[in-house]
Amino acid sequence: MRVVALLSLVGHAAAIWPAPQSFTNGSAALWLAEDFRVSYNNRTLTQRIGSTKSIPTEISSLDIVEAAVQRARESIFQSSIVPWKFYPRNKLDQIEPSATGNSKIYIQKLQITQTTIDNNSTFKPIAGEVDEAYNLTIGTDGAATIKAVSSISVLRALETFTQLFYLHSGEGTGVYTNLAPVSISDWPKFSHRGLNLDVSRNWFPKENILRTIDALSWNKFNRLHIHITDAQSWPLDVPALPELSQKGAYRSGYSYTPQDIKDIQIYGIYRGIEVIIEIDMPGHTTSIGFSHPDLITTFRYQSWHDYCSEPPCGQLKLNYTPVYDFVTKLFDDVLPRVSPYSAYFHTGGDEINTNDYLLDDTVNSSSVSVLTPLIQKFIDHSHDLVRKAGLVPIVWEELLITWNLTLGKDVVVQTWLDDASLSEVTGRGHKALFGDYENWYLPCGYGQWFNFNNTDAAIHYPYTDYCSPLKNWRVIYEYDPTASLSADQLALVLGGEIHLWAERSDPSNMDQVMWPRASAAGEVLWSGRQDPSGQNRSQIDAAVRLSDLRERMLLRGVGSEPIQMAYCTQYQGDCTW
Ligand SMILES: *[C@@H]1O[C@H](CO)[C@@H](O)[C@H](O)[C@H]1NC(C)=O
Ligand SMILES: *[C@@H]1O[C@H](CO)[C@@H](O)[C@H](O)[C@H]1NC(C)=O
Ligand SMILES: *[C@@H]1O[C@H](CO)[C@@H](O)[C@H](O)[C@H]1NC(C)=O
Ligand SMILES: *[C@@H]1O[C@H](CO)[C@@H](O)[C@H](O)[C@H]1NC(C)=O
Ligand SMILES: *[C@@H]1O[C@H](CO)[C@@H](O)[C@H](O)[C@H]1NC(C)=O
Ligand SMILES: *[C@@H]1O[C@H](CO)[C@@H](O)[C@H](O)[C@H]1NC(C)=O
Ligand SMILES: *[C@@H]1O[C@H](CO)[C@@H](O)[C@H](O)[C@H]1NC(C)=O
Ligand SMILES: *[C@@H]1O[C@H](CO)[C@@H](O)[C@H](O)[C@H]1NC(C)=O
Ligand SMILES: *[C@@H]1O[C@H](CO)[C@@H](O)[C@H](O)[C@H]1NC(C)=O
Repeated sequence: MRVVALLSLVGHAAAIWPAPQSFTNGSAALWLAEDFRVSYNNRTLTQRIGSTKSIPTEISSLDIVEAAVQRARESIFQSSIVPWKFYPRNKLDQIEPSATGNSKIYIQKLQITQTTIDNNSTFKPIAGEVDEAYNLTIGTDGAATIKAVSSISVLRALETFTQLFYLHSGEGTGVYTNLAPVSISDWPKFSHRGLNLDVSRNWFPKENILRTIDALSWNKFNRLHIHITDAQSWPLDVPALPELSQKGAYRSGYSYTPQDIKDIQIYGIYRGIEVIIEIDMPGHTTSIGFSHPDLITTFRYQSWHDYCSEPPCGQLKLNYTPVYDFVTKLFDDVLPRVSPYSAYFHTGGDEINTNDYLLDDTVNSSSVSVLTPLIQKFIDHSHDLVRKAGLVPIVWEELLITWNLTLGKDVVVQTWLDDASLSEVTGRGHKALFGDYENWYLPCGYGQWFNFNNTDAAIHYPYTDYCSPLKNWRVIYEYDPTASLSADQLALVLGGEIHLWAERSDPSNMDQVMWPRASAAGEVLWSGRQDPSGQNRSQIDAAVRLSDLRERMLLRGVGSEPIQMAYCTQYQGDCTW
């Protein structure tokens, strides 16, 4: 069978992103009937009426599949592209099938079979608990089938299915594929494929998060990590502590209600995206000080360079009973509300500044030997609460690597400082996530957001930021921190996350900053850096497929950037260096 090797030659027409593990195609044309029927385990699905964006209250396999089919219909019939950008100009009529005559063969039915019954962990899985594998076939006679292990794999299969179709340029003639017979067998390389979105540095109304979940699902991601609080603002309503968002949000109303959080989680479940909330502590907590100044040391301390990595400084006091009471009250409120819809809770732990504790009157010391047992005790307390709520803790790498804390074996350690961290964390027997700032930080390279006085300006000109340069999609695509790991270490790598820290992002530019560069991470996480023959995937092949998905994302309402000029996709050999 001419499986993957073919992908590099086929050019545009087989433009599935992320690349399936195994793909064969022919070149027969098929049309998709507008009213094509869909069966799910022999049950005919009725077409839903109403918006595909509405947020359901029930969670069941049938509802999830039915909603996904409806979205697939909408994507295919309302947002398929006419692929003029992918062929030499004025050649489209040679590629498109004839739209006239009675020889058009239609796909009338898509038969979906789910091979195992979903269970409770399907909708809030620990990494590895849900099998996302699927097979998809389309015969030249128009018979289309999906065989999927879980309802989540049905969702993945439907995303692939939609990408097989193009809109014919003849008005009203419909959508076609010219790849039949198609046979796809697909599964993800990593079980944790995430985006980390910071919603504290700037305010992101809920619909922006929902739109991001849509885009993640098109790229076969399965996690959205929401870094929901930080030093700058506290946009999370906590009914037991209402003053937190009343005083800590940027503005009254610029905060997520319990219903918003639940909506975001359920919207995610319907798209196979598990939403993981992070409340970062004990650093990155200044915004608590707007309502609870007694809990925070070095609150908005003006000589910030020595007390935090960016203003405003402030950390939870480290040896203070009211801080423990606060954390207990906070977690007892938040965790039981998120745990029905998520298996994880992220407790942060990055960039703890030791100098802050010199000025913390409950500590009066910046000595590591004094601080370490206090931080250990603080983390043990939070993690006990997380586990009590039935959740699994995630932390940033410093707790293990800088502080050498004893963490439970259940704890997932998220690395970000260096790709060597992944080796260290897994070498110490912990489950790990990758995505370091030199490769997978989306906000890098746009320049500084600090202002400089006239003296400092000369020194800092031309204002490059700490993680400059910008991570071109190719850098993201070639990132492979697992290459040097042993098999035992590799078994502990759950996957990774690409990050959008929002110091200079808000709803006006978030789509462009994220997409399609996050898609490059999506393919690394789903398909793998190497193809099944062990070769590095090629930028040349990827650029065309990525551009195809980008066109679809635009039509579906996500402002994804171009990665090339149209000339390069029209004349595909011409833009190779
Ligand atoms: C698969 O599709 C490509 C066009 O994308 C075509 O060039 C190729 O011939 C097809 N394969 C077969 C076996 O028809
Ligand atoms: C669907 O119907 C076929 C034939 O009637 C049967 O063999 C199969 O078990 C059914 N599948 C499910 C999931 O009910
Ligand atoms: C799912 O969990 C709930 C309570 O946690 C339990 O009542 C139910 O039986 C479980 N269902 C399955 C299919 O395991
Ligand atoms: C749920 O089903 C998956 C297979 O899809 C299995 O691996 C997992 O152990 C099951 N979980 C429970 C709690 O039964
Ligand atoms: C997909 O097809 C392969 C090869 O025929 C088979 O081994 C696998 O079990 C199938 N997967 C599903 C989800 O049906
Ligand atoms: C820290 O120093 C202040 C001022 O000297 C004092 O009041 C406080 O008791 C000290 N705290 C500890 C834990 O020693
Ligand atoms: C870290 O802790 C472990 C045991 O918990 C100990 O064996 C090791 O020496 C410590 N490493 C450092 C660098 O402190
Ligand atoms: C500019 O700021 C620096 C501190 O970063 C300070 O030392 C210097 O005096 C300031 N210069 C002027 C002209 O304000
Ligand atoms: C494959 O890509 C990695 C970076 O992801 C690089 O280190 C390696 O040298 C490449 N291998 C080949 C054979 O080009």
